[in-house]
Amino acid sequence: MDRFIIRGGRPLHGEITIGGAKNAGLKLLVAGLLTSERLVLTNVPHIADIATMRALLTQHGLTVETVNGDKTTLSVGGEITSTEAPYDIVSKMRASILVLGPLLARCREAKVSLPGGCAIGTRPVDMHLKGLETLGATITLENGYIHARAPNGLVGDRIVLPFASVGATENLMMAATLAKGRTEIVNAAREPEMADLANCLNAMGAKITGAGTGHIIIDGVEALHGAQHRIMSDRIECGTYACAAAITGGDLRLIGGQIEHLGAVVRAFEEAGVEVTQEGDAMRVRRTGALRGVDIMTEPYPGFPTDMQAQFMALLSVAEGASMITETIFENRFMHVPELNRMGARINVHGSSAIIRGVHSLSGAPVMATDLRASFSLIIAGLAAHGETILSRVYHLDRGYEAVERKLAACGAQIERVND
Ligand code: EPZ
Repeated sequence: MDRFIIRGGRPLHGEITIGGAKNAGLKLLVAGLLTSERLVLTNVPHIADIATMRALLTQHGLTVETVNGDKTTLSVGGEITSTEAPYDIVSKMRASILVLGPLLARCREAKVSLPGGCAIGTRPVDMHLKGLETLGATITLENGYIHARAPNGLVGDRIVLPFASVGATENLMMAATLAKGRTEIVNAAREPEMADLANCLNAMGAKITGAGTGHIIIDGVEALHGAQHRIMSDRIECGTYACAAAITGGDLRLIGGQIEHLGAVVRAFEEAGVEVTQEGDAMRVRRTGALRGVDIMTEPYPGFPTDMQAQFMALLSVAEGASMITETIFENRFMHVPELNRMGARINVHGSSAIIRGVHSLSGAPVMATDLRASFSLIIAGLAAHGETILSRVYHLDRGYEAVERKLAACGAQIERVND
């Protein structure tokens, strides 16, 4: 397994190109199930989860291939030959559950493994299932699989989500594109990835309005056709590298970063003493003064995103004064805390809140990645720590971040990947 060796204490300066958004790209690939024609996606990130999704769609019968040798452009299409999503793939990547709605809409049946939990929580899919039942599907759970049927096709209806679930919004939006009549999703997720998906689906011939607001309307159509769509830039990757610039007292231009996609994170940076400005197609992040502690609560967009919580905690671990972070989205997303404390941080967890007492400096140590965002929070800490940090289980990081060591080293970081 690969490890990272990081020697801290060097401010980051220069430019980093932000790639396509993992949490948009995965669903945009799934949209390829909704048409027999080819969907071409550009700005595709080169990460492990995309490879897993390619494998899943291929076993459904689709062809997913790069175009003209350009690994950032994928063409997906073909006829569906299997409506079963097997446990061995779904258990590796929870986003696989998003094939359920499209398979049901296109083939009127689907057999998808229940995803099970993951490191950060139990991650149920009840809202996905109840929403599809509202659209007329019959759903039973047998032997760890979801069996969904809609022999007469899906019929549009009004769905009120009890929570603004990202995945449920996406699954239902895609399913509704081919339903008979109008579907309304009330209390829909408002994350920018919703609008990106709707823009792609509309380019394919869907009729969706309101994506990005809490009220999405989808008027079903007979069929969707092929299209080309550029995946939006990854706002979480952007915010992640912004934390790296801030903790090292550096000055980075994040090419492709868009301030308006970061919601409450921008205000949190400013309260913490970090300067964030939009300079054309780049978001510039610099810190010249002291870091200040701030209180944060994770919330659905436009609130502070849970996917930025671990990275921001690493930053606050060396701020002046105390901070409190409350995680309201997932029940077990503080696994980076004991690892940060091994590096000298002073963090105490009380239920869904963590109290961070800023320390003057961190010290490098051998630490272990536990999940995608936690793994990068340890890199951020290592970039500021005195001495050497060795991060193991880097495969967690490779699921969602591309070429981390190359991007950081190009800005002055002392970081290298070693293979055991
Ligand atoms: C997406 O997960 C993202 N993943 C997550 O990013 C992100 O943290 C999350 O949205 C919130 O923004 C992808 O897009 C692939 P949810 P998702 O449905 O769709 C509960 C990362 O690091 N819930 O909004 O699973 C659920 O348990 C990953 O890139 C139900 O109870 O998130 C959780 O507590 C991690 N029933 C909360 O809602 C349901 O049917 C948020 O879940 C669905 C969700």
